[in-house]
Amino acid sequence: MASILIRNIKSLVGIRSLEVQTVKGKDMTQLPSLENAYLLIEDGLIKSYGENDLAPAHADEIIDATGRFVFPCWCDSHTHIVYAGSRESEFVDKINGLGYEEIAKRGGGILNSAAKLANASEEELLDAALGRLEEMESHGTGAVEIKSGYGLSYEGELKMLRVIRTLKEKSKLTIKANFLGAHAFPAEFKQNHEGYMDLLINKLLPQIAAEGLADFIDAFCDRGFFSADETDRILQAGTKYGLRAKIHANELDYSGGIEVGVKNNALSVDHLEVTGDAQIEVLKHSSTMPTLLPSTAFYLGLDYAPARRMIDSGLPIALASDFNPGSSPSGNMPFVISLACIQMKMLPEEAINAATLNSAYAMGVQQQLGSITIGKKANVFVTKPISSLAFLPYSFGSNPVERVIIS
Ligand code: NIG
Ligand code: FE
Repeated sequence: MASILIRNIKSLVGIRSLEVQTVKGKDMTQLPSLENAYLLIEDGLIKSYGENDLAPAHADEIIDATGRFVFPCWCDSHTHIVYAGSRESEFVDKINGLGYEEIAKRGGGILNSAAKLANASEEELLDAALGRLEEMESHGTGAVEIKSGYGLSYEGELKMLRVIRTLKEKSKLTIKANFLGAHAFPAEFKQNHEGYMDLLINKLLPQIAAEGLADFIDAFCDRGFFSADETDRILQAGTKYGLRAKIHANELDYSGGIEVGVKNNALSVDHLEVTGDAQIEVLKHSSTMPTLLPSTAFYLGLDYAPARRMIDSGLPIALASDFNPGSSPSGNMPFVISLACIQMKMLPEEAINAATLNSAYAMGVQQQLGSITIGKKANVFVTKPISSLAFLPYSFGSNPVERVIIS
């Protein structure tokens, strides 16, 4: 039995009972914590915690956390970290005034990454993704949802999903796979949407299900990408194979994506930069987690999603990095949390709830991760010495994490 005792913790953050699956509305300002605490980990699980005076005397390893906070690791519920190469030439195009959609129309964007991926081996993709996971972990991330969507062909999508399956085996982090064949129409199907829909629904989905390669199904429901009707058909097909929907919606326009996601009982609808009161109303009557990706709005210069209006209307919110080569080439969750506070006016407690328990829910792992709960997986991190909780988002751009413990 391997045990780790962390003692003299200045503040143990995010203590919840197992029944609490999400936090919403006003409750998002509550982040139950214990000052001057200990945390005992046994066999990779949270065994007990409490006041420091009551800490057990022995453990296989003892960590002194004087002056430091302990957090449940971030759950990054929306990423695209399997990709080949990088797209800094588009970065320069953007500086010179081109927009995301203009770049996409010229064969840049997602199609650019698809061309690069077609020439990459599974091994190359795996090595690059493992490097990204390592960097994310160093910033406190303990669980990651990873999408396909740069294959855009039968072989390419399966290649990506097989790489994600290997990542699940090789990485200590908790990983979920999302099939995003409906990321963009490949050039050869530009005038033949039905042909590509047929490939996704009738050829890829059965094979993916047979190999158990995906946990979720996604579509980029937005202007110039997949229509609400096409998204609806893809989600329904995925649902038949037991894949819960988790989709891209309303990044560029009122796409109908939020409505179609809720209609299909999506676990989450993500992006939501373009969201009005009608969409907030739809979300209020659902168990779908609105997931915001502020580093994408930051990187593309978009308006930020209306987080304040959502929370003030009683909704929960999750936060994720959207780590991808085109619209958010970073998986730095502390920075995402800073942006949520600075640009979307979320309080530090709200942003931390959004990046832990709510984002655990948004990837279906809230029973195992996302809070300090006896019996949950011990994915936790110890900060550097910090003065208060708010110091974390305040000190944007620096890494507050000193040590990460995964199980
Ligand atoms: O989540 N919005 C669609 N997909 C990604 C961007 C992908 C890319 O540009 O490569 C996103 O932002
Ligand atoms: Fe995305």
